[in-house]
Amino acid sequence: MGDLEGKRIVLGVSGGIACYKSADLVRRLMDHGAHVDVVMTQSACQFVSPTTFQALSSGPVYTDLWDRRAPNNMVHINLTRQADLVLIAPASANLMAKLAHGLADDLLSTLCLASQLPLMIAPAMNREMWLAPASVRNVALLRADGVEIIGPGQGAQACGETGDGRMLEPHEIVDAVRAHFQPKILDGLKVLMTAGPTCEPIDPVRVITNRSSGKTGYALAQAARDAGARVTLVSGPTALPCPPGVTRLSVQTALQMHQAVMRHATESDLFIAVAAVADWRVANPTDEKLKKIDTGAPELKFVMNPDILQEVASLAPSPWCVGFAAETSLDLAQLQAKRQRKRISLLIANLAQDVMDSEDTQVQLIDESGSHPLPAGPKIQVARVIITEIARRYRQHQA
Ligand code: C5P
Repeated sequence: MGDLEGKRIVLGVSGGIACYKSADLVRRLMDHGAHVDVVMTQSACQFVSPTTFQALSSGPVYTDLWDRRAPNNMVHINLTRQADLVLIAPASANLMAKLAHGLADDLLSTLCLASQLPLMIAPAMNREMWLAPASVRNVALLRADGVEIIGPGQGAQACGETGDGRMLEPHEIVDAVRAHFQPKILDGLKVLMTAGPTCEPIDPVRVITNRSSGKTGYALAQAARDAGARVTLVSGPTALPCPPGVTRLSVQTALQMHQAVMRHATESDLFIAVAAVADWRVANPTDEKLKKIDTGAPELKFVMNPDILQEVASLAPSPWCVGFAAETSLDLAQLQAKRQRKRISLLIANLAQDVMDSEDTQVQLIDESGSHPLPAGPKIQVARVIITEIARRYRQHQA
């Protein structure tokens, strides 16, 4: 089931060249299960035809306050009464000014004024317009009214200038909408996490590492953020973008990860250790590249890395800690022994060979009462269930 299943979104499209991206946005919102009603301003219709949005949303597109298709002639009321969210993308400077001051001179501005629904807007305008004192004042007014403003992004603009004012990309807007609908079960909490592999140098060009894409950890960081937490993610090297709103501290080695975690551990409410930390590091990495002509196959000596999770769980006071275990076979007695050795009440186990490099995962929660398998699914979906379980247990522990 998509994150937006059963949600009705009124998508307002105002006049800006970014309108063409909103066609893709409609499709993406629907892919996640949303029903989308599109309302366009007259300027938006200059950029993209309503027919485009009609074909994509499989429904009528509304452009006129005096739309005679509504039996009661009140399309500005009817559209929002069954809806869950009004999303405006792109939002022009003009539309934002109207919303900030309560003007209602066309369908989109009137339906916004005539509804108590949450309002999310993705501004799109020239950089000078965005920085104009009037726009800055309007943004502040809208924020004070509880409007959620997402973006704008930065970069090259259609006018040829470069700066702030680009509409966020459709996938970023969808991400914000999905986050909006998540219950805020970690509201106000600080969550510290690790993710990805660590790389232990042999010499300046060779490392020993674990196989880990970081996808599970990053999905959990996103799910914790969506649940209202302030998330600090200590990440080993991965190719993944940092989820917006998450503070990422990038590290290479287990010792660096240990240091970064210990700096933030005592101020955190929760610590979720997802990283595949190398258990050993090379005892004497060299500063110069080993030449195979001189050394042949080198004899490497290893020393143990600190067990970051165990150390954090042993702090007094410690954040509430959750560990992960990727194993090649799942033996409950061994997993329970690991959970107790780490001094944590929740260990999340999976089969390494099933989930590595995959977009999907399947996990079991191991706690003092035994093993509780969760349904398999895409990593973000499973991450949201894990965050729900973590939040419930954390609250119980606090009670
Ligand atoms: O002992 P094992 O490596 O199987 O434990 C896995 C759990 O411990 C994971 O949550 C991992 O992030 C954490 N861990 C750690 N520091 C290490 C090794 C593992 O925090 N040095």
